[in-house]
Amino acid sequence: MPKPTNSRRQFLKTAIGASAAATGLTACQTTGPFGRAPHSPAGARYMGDFAAPALDRIRMGFIGVGGRGTGHVAQMLLMDGVDIVAICDDYAPVAESAAQRCEDAGRTRPAVYSEHERSFEDMIADMDLDAVIISTPWRWHAPMGVAAMEGGAHAFIEVPITTTVDEMWDLVNTSEQTGRHCMMMENVNYGRDELLFLNMVRLGLVGEITHGEASYIHDLRWQMKELDRGEGSWRLAYHVNTDGNLYPTHGLGPVAQYMNCERGGDRFERLVSFSSPAFGRQLSAARDFPAEHERNQQTYQCGDMNTSIIKTEKGRTILVQHDTTSPRPYTRLNMISGTKGTMAGFPTRIALDPEGKGAHGWRQGGELAEFYEKYEHPLYTRVGEEAVKAGGHGGMDFIMLWRMVYCLRNGLPLDQNVYEGCAWSAVSPLSEWSVANGGMPASFPDFTRGRWTETKPLDIVG
Ligand SMILES: NC(=O)c1ccc[n+]([C@@H]2O[C@H](COP(=O)([O-])OP(=O)(O)OC[C@H]3O[C@@H](n4cnc5c(N)ncnc54)[C@H](O)[C@@H]3O)[C@@H](O)[C@H]2O)c1
Repeated sequence: MPKPTNSRRQFLKTAIGASAAATGLTACQTTGPFGRAPHSPAGARYMGDFAAPALDRIRMGFIGVGGRGTGHVAQMLLMDGVDIVAICDDYAPVAESAAQRCEDAGRTRPAVYSEHERSFEDMIADMDLDAVIISTPWRWHAPMGVAAMEGGAHAFIEVPITTTVDEMWDLVNTSEQTGRHCMMMENVNYGRDELLFLNMVRLGLVGEITHGEASYIHDLRWQMKELDRGEGSWRLAYHVNTDGNLYPTHGLGPVAQYMNCERGGDRFERLVSFSSPAFGRQLSAARDFPAEHERNQQTYQCGDMNTSIIKTEKGRTILVQHDTTSPRPYTRLNMISGTKGTMAGFPTRIALDPEGKGAHGWRQGGELAEFYEKYEHPLYTRVGEEAVKAGGHGGMDFIMLWRMVYCLRNGLPLDQNVYEGCAWSAVSPLSEWSVANGGMPASFPDFTRGRWTETKPLDIVG
């Protein structure tokens, strides 16, 4: 995984300083190395509102069936029109157990690919897949997504879509060249409250939007005990090698869609970022492992709390925070504020000011019933009950998968296009660069190459 090393960071600092001097820019005007878009590949088409031909049934393959992928297999078994024909995981026991789960559900046993870490290429070559769901460690997201699209399948990639701007361009270019969808699977956009807020924002209830707040604050120190298998076994390396926002999209995806970012309404323009000291992971290692243990042989450089601020093209601001280390209750903030009111999550609160007389108190708890009654998102009304029964983060996973299948089978654009997945995920490399450069602003690449203005806002679908 090409993570910037200290020497690469130093190079970036020097290079940026030199280019600022050459162009006469002051340090404040310098906006980092990511802003410029590469040329469009030959034959590229814009994927903003792209709709692929409708599929009667979907031949689906999975790459990665660990903690997350197993859940996706279980829920896809509940969907009409989906044939799970292939499972790939380079750890054979989990691949076999996912295949067995399909057989136990009365389906034909899918083909299993688990020989080595590039077995996914064999699966894609052999199986004539319509769609591939990728739930692997982050360093595999881009090569697997590219391979799936080049093999003719739509790629559905877990969060973040990938971790480097170069790989984001690889995904955009491949999607544009092959005419295959590349959707990052941001499930939080399908949470009940996120859907409610989206509906209320679209109805104009918070007025002109000025500011949003998003975070991933989730104490995951327990993952340090996952040594050989499980997310902690690979994710911890990012705390060692990286200092920035490692996981931005859960909080940010919904806020970006409230604002119609990358979809006609606005666009992420630049970001500044700072990290707090990094204490917690070292303390956990010292508490939970002997001194000679590998967990105590490394330095954790990722600040416990990373705080970034995005400035959008229309001048709005978005606070984005990441902290998976401090002992602190879970929150994604989920706050959206405008000229007529503010809505926030954790706990859910709404304060509207339609008369302009001030909104000095939150309505929350039982007082929210009226809002759910009047403004429940029609998608939640349609599948919410079934989703809650199916489980998976309170139903949001089911609603996301249901919509993916519905859109593919009806030839509709997906709810999240490749440009959104890349813009939301780009907070990771941009924050890392900004932190390493004393909080300097970093410009977002415009993954749409200027065409975001043509893309329709996300519909309120039911
Ligand atoms: N959206 C969410 O709520 C959510 C929740 C958890 C995880 N995730 C994301 O899901 C992804 C997977 O996370 P996880 O928790 O399931 O991790 P995990 O470690 O439990 O599972 C990853 C799986 O990928 C397999 N794998 C690794 N390299 C492979 C290769 N080359 N070929 C085939 N299989 C390979 C591993 O054997 C493992 O079974 C990550 O991107 C993570 O960020 C998202």
